Amino acid sequence: MSDTMSETVTENTIDMSVNLAGVKLRNPVIAASGTFGNGSEYSEIIDVSLLGGICTKGLTMTPREGNTGVRVWETPSGLINSVGLENVGISSFIENKLPFLRQLGPAVIANLSGGSSDEYVEGAVLLNESSVDMIELNISCPNVKVGGLSFGMDPGTAAALVSAVRRVCTNKPLIVKLSPNAPNIASIALSCVRAGADAFSLVNSFKAMAIDVAGKKPVFENITAGLCGPAIRPIALRLVWELFDTLKDSKLNVPIVGIGGIACTNDALEFLMAGSCAIQVGSATFSNPHTMIEIIDGLHKYMSDNKLSAISEISIREK
Ligand SMILES: Cc1cc2nc3c(=O)[nH]c(=O)nc-3n(C[C@H](O)[C@H](O)[C@H](O)COP(=O)(O)O)c2cc1C
Repeated sequence: MSDTMSETVTENTIDMSVNLAGVKLRNPVIAASGTFGNGSEYSEIIDVSLLGGICTKGLTMTPREGNTGVRVWETPSGLINSVGLENVGISSFIENKLPFLRQLGPAVIANLSGGSSDEYVEGAVLLNESSVDMIELNISCPNVKVGGLSFGMDPGTAAALVSAVRRVCTNKPLIVKLSPNAPNIASIALSCVRAGADAFSLVNSFKAMAIDVAGKKPVFENITAGLCGPAIRPIALRLVWELFDTLKDSKLNVPIVGIGGIACTNDALEFLMAGSCAIQVGSATFSNPHTMIEIIDGLHKYMSDNKLSAISEISIREK
């Protein structure tokens, strides 16, 4: 074969698949937790089977109704949300939602939350025996009064939870979803790896607030809520870059899923270049439900134009 021929990347040789902690995704684009329901909500609008993965809404053992009052508030280039962890409960999810989600095709990632360590562990026991592909441990929800973010602010607390869940989560890879609000993300990440984390997703939303000036009171009943969308993207990108450095310096080969304001192919490329192996798209789906499909097509075109045959070749980071 001539040199020219061996260098040619044809449509057939472009492999968009990603190995995320042992789970094969057909491409690196995943629907972020809380922004895509449980798969059925968008299945008549887009071809959901084309996605790499779908993260469920945060699941808890006990069904929850979520927060009262204002739940979403638009802000320049972003969205502040205070949905809380509204969900049907893990048993009902497994029985009534998972069968449909499972047959859609993309990898299924269960976002696990809880009000106490025991509740997380009980949930992990059920999910471990279910047909989900992986568990994303949510230690970063800023919108609940008990649990959530309180588990993700301190290395010791985070590690204790990860190891308790790891003990019962024997069949599924464990992604730990980190908070951008933590004072020292590097030490939290390192202690989570020691406790058994297989991968990280970063970021959840940033603690923020808004005031209803006419009403002279905070907009949200919980006062604070979570900021997401393009407004957070440059900070989220910096955090992914730094987490990559932290893991590399410790010689840890732990994959990162980048999240934060991704709304087009260029945004996704930034996160893949910064060292994430996959990305999640959250609030952009609200304004354009086709965002993820457009990004998948855009990444394919980028690979073709740049003669890349694997997603990992997009990264500009040295391992
Ligand atoms: C309405 C809404 C609900 C969310 N619910 C959850 C959740 O249940 N669990 C979780 O880990 N993250 C949740 N998130 C955070 C997103 O998964 C994502 O981390 C965050 O929105 C940043 O991504 P984005 O800027 O692309 O929206 C939620 C975000 C929004 C906007």
